[in-house]
Amino acid sequence: NDADDTRQTDVLIIGAGLAGLSTALSLPKSLNITVLSKDALEVCSSHYAQGGIAASLDKNDSVTDHIADTLIAGAGLCEIEHTTSILSAGQQAVQWLCEQGVPFTQNPDTQISQQNAKKKPLTELHTSDLHLTQEGGHGCRRVAHADDATGRHIMEALNIKAHAATNITILPYHEALTLLTSPFTDSQLNPHARIKHCQGALVFDHINQRQFTFRSRTVVLASGGLGQLFKRASAPNVCVGDGVMMAWQAGCRLANLEFIQFHPTGLALADSSFLISEALRGEGGRLYCPQTGTRFMLDVDARAELAPRDIVARAIAEQIHHNKLGYVHLDVSHLPATFLRAHFPQIDQTLRALGINMTVDPIPVAPTAHYSCGGVVTCANGLTDVAGLYAAGEVAYTGLHGANRLASNSLLECVVVGRNIAKDLPRYLKNVTARETDSFTTVLPTSSYATTEKTLTDIWTPPRIAHAQFIKLPSPVFNKYGENNSKGKFDPDSLLKPDITKVTAELKTLMTDHMGITRCADALEQALTQIQAWQQWLTRAALPHQSDAHDKSSVMVVDELAYLQLARQLQLATLIIQSAYQRFESRGGHYRKDCPTLATMPLTSVIESLSDQLYH
Ligand code: SIN
Repeated sequence: NDADDTRQTDVLIIGAGLAGLSTALSLPKSLNITVLSKDALEVCSSHYAQGGIAASLDKNDSVTDHIADTLIAGAGLCEIEHTTSILSAGQQAVQWLCEQGVPFTQNPDTQISQQNAKKKPLTELHTSDLHLTQEGGHGCRRVAHADDATGRHIMEALNIKAHAATNITILPYHEALTLLTSPFTDSQLNPHARIKHCQGALVFDHINQRQFTFRSRTVVLASGGLGQLFKRASAPNVCVGDGVMMAWQAGCRLANLEFIQFHPTGLALADSSFLISEALRGEGGRLYCPQTGTRFMLDVDARAELAPRDIVARAIAEQIHHNKLGYVHLDVSHLPATFLRAHFPQIDQTLRALGINMTVDPIPVAPTAHYSCGGVVTCANGLTDVAGLYAAGEVAYTGLHGANRLASNSLLECVVVGRNIAKDLPRYLKNVTARETDSFTTVLPTSSYATTEKTLTDIWTPPRIAHAQFIKLPSPVFNKYGENNSKGKFDPDSLLKPDITKVTAELKTLMTDHMGITRCADALEQALTQIQAWQQWLTRAALPHQSDAHDKSSVMVVDELAYLQLARQLQLATLIIQSAYQRFESRGGHYRKDCPTLATMPLTSVIESLSDQLYH
């Protein structure tokens, strides 16, 4: 109903990437589903994924081996139960994608005939027909792919299906601003259990420049990652972590935010965000120092170029620090040119357009922010701490990635968790409707309070984390809008006419320089102080943002949106830096040069929800 600026749907999915569309397409057709995309549909990280989707599909591989490799890369921080559950569903997930019409690259020996039909018809494709590549940290070939543009092919196939489904409405250029929540009415039985349930979101329609309310019985957060907090990132511009912040403000815990994964080989030409897939190294690509021609990875790790990402990225960063060129060389010129062109057509074309012929020229590469291993705390079924709010994909923390994600496990997680949500959600709707009707007495279990009354486990069980260290935030840091109130050492008036665009760009440089591949306490403290100064400036800036979001008129000025976006980015940067600051060890993707060793006990960093921060 547009008249009062409120619309309704059964399921509101925030994000139209792989997690969002896997959920939408797997839900019962009887449900009315709305999918929001902040920008055009192809502006999502899934679309840009090159390498592929990992699953144990080879007859000589096993789920046990896939789990073992994932745990090694995750450096002690994978949640074993969720990891096992997600990876065990790998084969079914890839088969489901085949059934959606994804044109995976096939094994040459399963293609019907080289002359007539080059490939098996997609409708008959089975996981045993797929060609598999190898990537860093995998003990064998385990990555199903569609040429070197797997994400694009998957998203094209799923978009066709989603557009054809009569129960799914996709709204591009619609940005979720805030999640709407309300407390469960019977929570007075346990006054400390501040469990809320999610009932929709405030949404900004960029086409008509209007804000409206989307009421929904459940919300699925599939909004992607936060790579764009950094200067060089493989993710598109929309990936600024707003989903993480919305969930935190709505009542969710966040975990392991310090584990930002840097992909070793982003194309190092001007501002390019193009990735040079790890699959090139999987096929034999080598890294060289441009000045000396040394193949430096041989001295770093027995697995050389196929060591886990953190090791390769750190070694490249070290080379770049010394060579001052801003890149190292990735060389594939020893591989057959026909093979390279056939298997990596997208990389070949992109490089040729830039004057690089990879069959003879070395490729300049440098690490680039690529993936957030942490996020909104969820289980393998996507349940968060807020009833009715699910999360999947990069926005979520399931514990699968631990301290360092194994290559190509993320697309798998999107599909498996998305489909698990689709199975759980009707159960939740049924039980919650029964509960509303019968008003039976229940208390949601929390980490601190045992459930004594009729348990809500058949309605909603917030995820548990086995071994957590709680990240302390300076108190009182945040007001009810989640804005920082503390006094930084900088005088905000000393910032000469900062503007939102400039501060947003400077934040990226700050994060790259101080919260990048190598960290230390001094640099993290400096970054926090600078961010506090920006927060104070922003709070003082003369913008009409302070009023309660619910009281606002439905027409929103764009400056106000820019204000909200920057405020959230500054808050999120603070949470990430605090997490890195309080992890006094080096583990997986988190490397502290002032704490270079591994702590004996692997602990997951947990940030309590904003409401818990305020009540403490
Ligand atoms: C790549 O193709 O190198 C990226 C794969 C991934 O990040 O999982």
